[in-house]
Amino acid sequence: MTEGGARARIETLRRDITEHNRRYYEEAAPTISDREYDQLYRELAELEKKYPEFVREDSPTRRVGGQPLKQFAQVTHRVPMLSLDNTYSVEELTEFYARITRLLPQEKIPVVIEPKVDGVAVSMLYENGEVRYAATRGDGAVGDDITQNILTIRSLPRRLKGKAPAVLEVRGEVFMDKHGFEKLNAGRAEQGLPAFANPRNAAAGSLKQLDPALVAKRPLGIIFYGTGAVEGVKLEKHSDLFPLLDGFGLPHSERIWSASSADTIIKAIQELDKVRHDFRYQTDGAVVKVDSFAQRERLGFTSKSPRWAIAFKYEAERVQTRLHDILVQVGRTGVLTPVAALDPVLVSGSTVGRATLHNEEEIARKDIRIGDTVIIEKAGEVIPAVVEVRKDLRTGSEKKFRMSKKCPECGSAVVKDAAQVAVRCVNAQCPAQVRRRIEHFASRSAMDIEGLGEMMVTQLVKAGLVQNVAQIYTLDAAKLSQLERTGEKSIRNLLEAIERSKTRPLWRLIFGLGILHVGETSSRELADHFQSIEALMNASANELQRIPDVGEVVGTSIHQFFQEPHNRELVTRLKKAGVKPTVESRKKSDLAIGGTTWVITGTLTQPRDEIAEIIIARGGKVSGSVSKKTNYVLAGDEAGSKLEKAKKLGVKIIDEKEFRRLLESSS
Ligand code: IVH
Repeated sequence: MTEGGARARIETLRRDITEHNRRYYEEAAPTISDREYDQLYRELAELEKKYPEFVREDSPTRRVGGQPLKQFAQVTHRVPMLSLDNTYSVEELTEFYARITRLLPQEKIPVVIEPKVDGVAVSMLYENGEVRYAATRGDGAVGDDITQNILTIRSLPRRLKGKAPAVLEVRGEVFMDKHGFEKLNAGRAEQGLPAFANPRNAAAGSLKQLDPALVAKRPLGIIFYGTGAVEGVKLEKHSDLFPLLDGFGLPHSERIWSASSADTIIKAIQELDKVRHDFRYQTDGAVVKVDSFAQRERLGFTSKSPRWAIAFKYEAERVQTRLHDILVQVGRTGVLTPVAALDPVLVSGSTVGRATLHNEEEIARKDIRIGDTVIIEKAGEVIPAVVEVRKDLRTGSEKKFRMSKKCPECGSAVVKDAAQVAVRCVNAQCPAQVRRRIEHFASRSAMDIEGLGEMMVTQLVKAGLVQNVAQIYTLDAAKLSQLERTGEKSIRNLLEAIERSKTRPLWRLIFGLGILHVGETSSRELADHFQSIEALMNASANELQRIPDVGEVVGTSIHQFFQEPHNRELVTRLKKAGVKPTVESRKKSDLAIGGTTWVITGTLTQPRDEIAEIIIARGGKVSGSVSKKTNYVLAGDEAGSKLEKAKKLGVKIIDEKEFRRLLESSS
């Protein structure tokens, strides 16, 4: 790979992974499997290792997870919530144990093996036995306050039993009971609501509800597996935690294993694999942790995860079925996506009849033919994937797939994009594209117009009432009543929802326009930077490309979009129709910490690498030495030469109290 190629690939991976993180953490609606995600992540990590000059501070390899949601109050974690390194291979697991043995030579290193609960991470703080708060992980440093939702979990005590310590921050995973999940989905299907893809998504979706009464109806449970801040009780090792949790009435997993060698770890993991399907909660792996806290401290952390633990993930469930056809769907930007039509088959608890095939090259690479017997994999993700073809079962009647040269929807010619992968229908008026653009504009993650979903959009486009997003705002009761199955009440609701959407935040409008390559993150950046749609529309390609998180590809795409007279016209029409987006001022946290460089020195109440994590998670940089480029020196007790140097250079020095205040005020 050339240097330029590596740089471009790093940029693409960074953008894609950020978007997948957002879908996973914020929307609870991932579109790729964990395995595919892990592959992308590894590729990025490896490229960054090889080309450190292209590493950016905001790379997903340096961040922990999603951004906190806007609706909930925010909680700054007393100890950051990190994630774990994970692996699918026994060799890497053996290497993990070998590595810690190298780091702590001639010591016995007992480890604990626990189920990896596939749910949503939470941190709960009890003070003198009373719940202070429960929070999501968020970006690792700051999460959402979801106390009211968590308190609906029946197995969770509001007050700790027994003699409670002054401070106990317990960490665990909220899950949806497997049977409860199936019942919930069956009920949703009856009401015509979309099914949750898997118990984890259902748990995440439940916790995002703003109304705790709704959450209370969901069959949620919780399993605790660790601690954050603790005062008033001394724990020497992790395995001491479980009897303690029992005493407080806090639930933990029913089985844990201990081991002191790679072989016994592997044996425990195999045993867990045999029994885990009987648990009430879904598991996707095992977590191996060094038991002794003293040893953990000496092993320390990498920039993102502890060296003293690793997650081993079990392979996703695979089943065999017949692929009887390959259909072609047309997306919002005209991209034609082949989809496998399968003989319905039960996998990971749900019936699957479709699998994504991504593109023509992928079909050719895997040599997938119509009529093939295939192995599909579903790890709980939304869309299952074809992972293998049983070529040994071929009869000779299987047919090769060829992407049609015409759009299956409008018959127009199709072209390959610059990267020669995606095939696109170039007719901007293609009914499929028109529908998808309108659906996207109205979707929950864009302008959030309730009631304007796929079915309604199809009707509106078919009736010729809406051909572009501006025409949504020309709808009235008379027009809507022409449609089938629309009652007075639903018409009123839809018109009200349309009205409400007029004043959505600017980034939602930008995102809703569906500009190629412009995801939610870039839309937020663009709204922050330009503060108006006109300013964005009139920006030069150069100006656009200089914005962080935009870059060359996205910048060019935006510029091209607004070079098209009909797109400019669309914006004018939206404005005329009364769409007046609100502009949010730049996030305070970005102003306070994002883009600043810090040096941490002296003794603080929290380990320095944890504080560094907090700063990095908020977009700051941490450096080991003070220079003119340093913006802040965070000085604890007994700070020495670095503090002196900061004074000499006139760098702003702040103490821990001030730092905490800054965190609070900027969260
Ligand atoms: S220990 C420093 N133990 O898996 C992080 N995590 O990929 C310590 N998880 O963030 C985490 N079951 O959300 C731990 N028994 C378990 C777990 C577990 C599920 C989740 C947790 C964590 C993620 C790591």
